[in-house]
Amino acid sequence: VTIWRKDYRPPDWLVPEVSLDIALDPASTRVRSSLKVERNGAHDRPLRLAGDEIRPLTVTVDGAEARWTLDGDTLVIDLGGAEHAVVETEVEIVPQDNSKLMGLYASGGILCTQCESEGFRRITFHPDRPDVLSVYRVRMSANKARFPILLANGNEIAKGEGDDGTHWAEWHDPFPKPSYLFALVAGDLAANRDSFTTMSGRKVDLAIWVRERDLPRTGHAMESLKAAMKWDEKVYGREYDLDLFNIVAVDDFNFGAMENKGLNIFNSRYVLADQDSATDADFDAIAGVVAHEYFHNWSGDRVTCRDWFQLSLKEGFTVFRDQSFSADMGSAAVKRIEDVRLLRAVQFPEDSGPLAHPVRPESFIEIANFYTATIYNKGAEVIRMMHTLMGAEAFRRGTDLYFERFDGQAVTCDDFVDAMEEASGVDLSQFRLWYSQAGTPHVTARLEHDTGAARATLHLAQAVPATPGQADKQPMVLPLRTALIGTDSGRELAAERVITLNEPSMSVVFENVDEAPLLSINRGFSTPAVIDVARKSGELERLAQTDADPFARFEALQDLMYRALLAGARGETVDYDPVVAAMGATLRSNALDTAFKGEALIIPGESVIGDRLPLVDPQAVHESRDALRGAVGASLADDLTAVQAITASGGDLSPEAKGTRRLRAVALGLIAAADPSRGAALAKAQYDSADNMTDRQAALATLANLKGPERAEALDDFYRRHRGDTLVIDKWFSLQAMAGRPDTLDQVETLRRHPDFTMKNPNRLRALAGAFAANPWVFHSGEGRGYRMLADFVIAADAINPQVAARLVPPLGRWRRFVEPYAGRMRAELERIAGTPGLSKDVFEQVSKSLA
Ligand code: ARG
Ligand code: ZN
Repeated sequence: VTIWRKDYRPPDWLVPEVSLDIALDPASTRVRSSLKVERNGAHDRPLRLAGDEIRPLTVTVDGAEARWTLDGDTLVIDLGGAEHAVVETEVEIVPQDNSKLMGLYASGGILCTQCESEGFRRITFHPDRPDVLSVYRVRMSANKARFPILLANGNEIAKGEGDDGTHWAEWHDPFPKPSYLFALVAGDLAANRDSFTTMSGRKVDLAIWVRERDLPRTGHAMESLKAAMKWDEKVYGREYDLDLFNIVAVDDFNFGAMENKGLNIFNSRYVLADQDSATDADFDAIAGVVAHEYFHNWSGDRVTCRDWFQLSLKEGFTVFRDQSFSADMGSAAVKRIEDVRLLRAVQFPEDSGPLAHPVRPESFIEIANFYTATIYNKGAEVIRMMHTLMGAEAFRRGTDLYFERFDGQAVTCDDFVDAMEEASGVDLSQFRLWYSQAGTPHVTARLEHDTGAARATLHLAQAVPATPGQADKQPMVLPLRTALIGTDSGRELAAERVITLNEPSMSVVFENVDEAPLLSINRGFSTPAVIDVARKSGELERLAQTDADPFARFEALQDLMYRALLAGARGETVDYDPVVAAMGATLRSNALDTAFKGEALIIPGESVIGDRLPLVDPQAVHESRDALRGAVGASLADDLTAVQAITASGGDLSPEAKGTRRLRAVALGLIAAADPSRGAALAKAQYDSADNMTDRQAALATLANLKGPERAEALDDFYRRHRGDTLVIDKWFSLQAMAGRPDTLDQVETLRRHPDFTMKNPNRLRALAGAFAANPWVFHSGEGRGYRMLADFVIAADAINPQVAARLVPPLGRWRRFVEPYAGRMRAELERIAGTPGLSKDVFEQVSKSLA
């Protein structure tokens, strides 16, 4: 069944209060629920309470037996003419058998919940929609020895001992919240405790709960949390509102983390880190996710979504907030490059494929499939554009108004834009198309220079491609941060300004341009669009050396790489000199910092190269990229060897130190591409001497691509060294699945039978199946064998955990982008999945849309 945004109706019944009494046991948990319900407006419809894989044992209304029926999984209760009632139900659930990891489930001996989007209905009967807000009171009891710690949202108000070894706790959350923010945790957990004093002087107790042995790995998450609390006060004026804030880490988790009010639950990979187990990227991801979930306390919890079509209201905004936080904490230029790299790698393909949808979708079959790069990352770009269009001060006035006006309410994306518009005075009517139109806009730009008149004219045009269900598009509002630079002098000929392209085409005139100008456009990636600039030869080379905007400089260097990569993939003879020269100049520059260099010198991956071709031949793309890597590695051998030798102490997490390690990794890969035996020797030395996971993993990744005996030795050493350390063993799996070797598919086959492999743990499944599917040359190799393997993973995983299985489908869904015989073989595997009996609606939706 398809659910449509246009069918939204306010709830028939409100639930101002929820009271739960839960007797916890992994094998049999009793949930008694008491809902205070109130008729919402005049109507004669019964109370409908959603359920999922639960059956009512008892149902009473105001203490008497109720008149009820089941409509599928929905409990329908006849309340007669009552305006309000107390509805009580009792159900039994089996957390240890809950492999979907939605609702109440067991992870490594811990009982925990995940309710967003529709998991609460797997715990008890409830309207379970985000516009029904309730005050929750939760009493839980459990065996005290196995579950000494009992946590829920809000504050603990009472606790005590039961008979026969049980104990109980009662928690109360004073803030009305939707059911998707409900959470509880029971387990044998230890806390890293700290505190934070808010700007108004209230002391908040902070705790990060993990297994005792993981305590030494919680320091970075705690520092990140305190930094995020401080930052949200300073930048958004948002203060924390409860007396305690708890974070719990669990190993089995479908996504990154969850912002349950006062009790955030995390995938342990976004909490646990130390030098021996986590890379710089892991440290950064932890800071970003901890901040993201914390920021949701306002953008998500205090102000929530009216319905799930509005998901980007909280996710796009909160991603923008966590991106800004990370930019402020480290190198802003590097952070922006990373964010754009992710957008292009994941969101652009989504937006140009069969699963394209607007930031505010019109319909869905399974909402879990809409936690996408479009909702999150394009959604964040939409917020960023508002910031660009109105400026920081007006933007802040807008968010202040939004939080003040809608505090305690469930609202829409339009409500947000209304507040921004009102507070800033900027007309956002046309801008709202960003919420309704899918597809990545394409901009063409051409700069004309009239030397005699000292005048330059910029000709711009836009087009938004058709996407499923949206054939015709209207012109959008595209803010382009633009400047002109002197080709010879390198000075600024026209100062940076925001040019807003909001018509199909337009021309902008620059006066007093007395030198041949270079066009620096879409600086900072101010619009999430594909920009096609008509360039004369030599322009990119100049921009790569002179553009004052670090992002634009990065783009120029990348575009030089793409020029060579695409020519190679088309089978043309490639002139590597310009790109080698530009990379060499960047490497040697004294003006650029290492953090920037490390990012700028990364050669685009095979997947994003393919995205710039009309149709993809994966073998040709692979060979072209290898050839460029080899050419750069050979021509810049001395410079690369020099930077590969520079080390930074593992304990140093400054942008400079991280940049040094990044540059080292990039250099090592390029050296090995040109000279495998030298690469192997350097990688082995780097592996052996590494005092941190970043250097060790980079060395191992290089070795994993190579032939010699060092490869097996290092992989075995890594395994022995980190055996039993789940998060690190995930790296061991994915490093092998990401290797660019002819036998990688065989390795994946072998690893699938490894005793440490399990499909029940989402991180492990993604480490193997997700990793090789993101390794294009390998995925497309073996005459369809890679596709068959991924389809087998999808089918097997679907029987265990549909949400996670559905997320493995998109690589196959891109079949239309490939030449034959690849395309037909990919489609055949989608059809095989589609024909599997008993498919979940999660996988069904992804597969049927991919075939349509
Ligand atoms: N709200 C969570 C976050 O962005 C993600 C929850 C994902 N849940 C889901 N059913 N897809 O931090
Ligand atoms: Zn979020």
